[in-house]
Amino acid sequence: MKNDKLAIYGGEPAYGGTLHAYNSIGAEEIDAVARVMRSGCLSGYYGSWSNEFFGGPVVQAFEAAWVRRFNCRHAVAVNSNTSGLIAAMGAVGVSPGDEVIVPPMTMAATAMAPLIYGGIPVFVDMDPVTYCLAPDLVRKSITPKTRAILVVNLFGHIAHLEELRAIADEHGVFLIEDNAQAPLGTENGRYAGTIGHIGVFSLNYHKHIHTGEGGVCTTDNDDLALRMQLLRNHAESCVEGAGMANLVNMVGFNMRMTELCAAVGLEQLKKIDYHVGMREHIAQRLNEGLAGLVGITPPVQRDSTRPVYYMYQIRFDRDAVGVSREIFAKALAAEGFPTFLGYLKPLYMLPVFQKRVAIGREGWPFTLTERVYRKGLCPVAERLHEKELVGFDNCCLKITDFDLDGLIAAFRKVHAGRGQLKQVEEGHT
Ligand SMILES: Cc1ncc(COP(=O)(O)O)c(C=O)c1O
Repeated sequence: MKNDKLAIYGGEPAYGGTLHAYNSIGAEEIDAVARVMRSGCLSGYYGSWSNEFFGGPVVQAFEAAWVRRFNCRHAVAVNSNTSGLIAAMGAVGVSPGDEVIVPPMTMAATAMAPLIYGGIPVFVDMDPVTYCLAPDLVRKSITPKTRAILVVNLFGHIAHLEELRAIADEHGVFLIEDNAQAPLGTENGRYAGTIGHIGVFSLNYHKHIHTGEGGVCTTDNDDLALRMQLLRNHAESCVEGAGMANLVNMVGFNMRMTELCAAVGLEQLKKIDYHVGMREHIAQRLNEGLAGLVGITPPVQRDSTRPVYYMYQIRFDRDAVGVSREIFAKALAAEGFPTFLGYLKPLYMLPVFQKRVAIGREGWPFTLTERVYRKGLCPVAERLHEKELVGFDNCCLKITDFDLDGLIAAFRKVHAGRGQLKQVEEGHT
């Protein structure tokens, strides 16, 4: 008998399986950690100018391997992408009142990094196809106060990086890539994270490869690399030894990656093609399986890029589908297809911007700007968040071809049965 009664109304779920967390840690990582444990040196830095300033042997080997893999001049391992973004802002000299262009829809750390130095986040809307900063809007938003453009390669899609780099160079500002979500993504064969002046990668548990917590900053610029190394490890105590004459932002932190994390990172890096390839495979299968459904737009692969699908985001057109995103998602969940709606709300709606309280009691650094943060600032991001995005967490889940067949069947069943949902929505049943 045909199973077309929706599970939300008691029908048989189209996909009866259970999706478990993806585990990328294997015997190699465990052995590598055990070797570090046996060595007794779990972290190898001194916070003073010495041979140990740059970290222990495993951290340095990990950085060298990252340089080879991503074809860049420097890699600076840190304890998170958040730390790396702060180091990047410090290194490019963001100063109180400077503006930093950021996208509205991203993980909050992107827009917090400028604030640490008194920088003013200027939210510029997203391109609805790539979900990344729209270059024409970036160009219009540059002012004499702009110090940097902080672009995010969101969901593993690749921003118009070369165009943004050209805009940055033309205006004498820095392009920083928050590449937390797009390792191995490319534009015209060049790696995302290496097209801007600095790229910052995340190695937290939820990413394509991980070290539990961790991050890496990449750059081809020797001065920026040294400044990030200084910021990672108590800059103020080490600038004299390093011969750093420019003391701007040379107040340091402890952003150091441990030997343990670097040992995991070295092994994960050897497997990065596999882990990223898995995410691409899932996305391609879903793209094929969900093609041609009215009102459903699967992710678009922009010409000349390789997106790496940290998250799989569909655009949902309520009018064309005929039912709300919310009821559709509930029906999907009942069929065994877990989704989440809207990703994150535009960051300017967070209390830090709405109340204009960030550093200290007096509302600094918002006291340095006339910029206002109000609803309506970035209509594309708001529309995507409130109405259109339906996301699937393909980076964190273990998904086989069998699961994919079930998930696609579940989606198509709900789409085909949306008339039943429509009746409920209209209160007819
Ligand atoms: C775009 C983006 N930026 C920054 C971060 C922060 O990364 P971390 O947890 O390594 O600090 C994340 C993490 O989810 C992210 O996705």
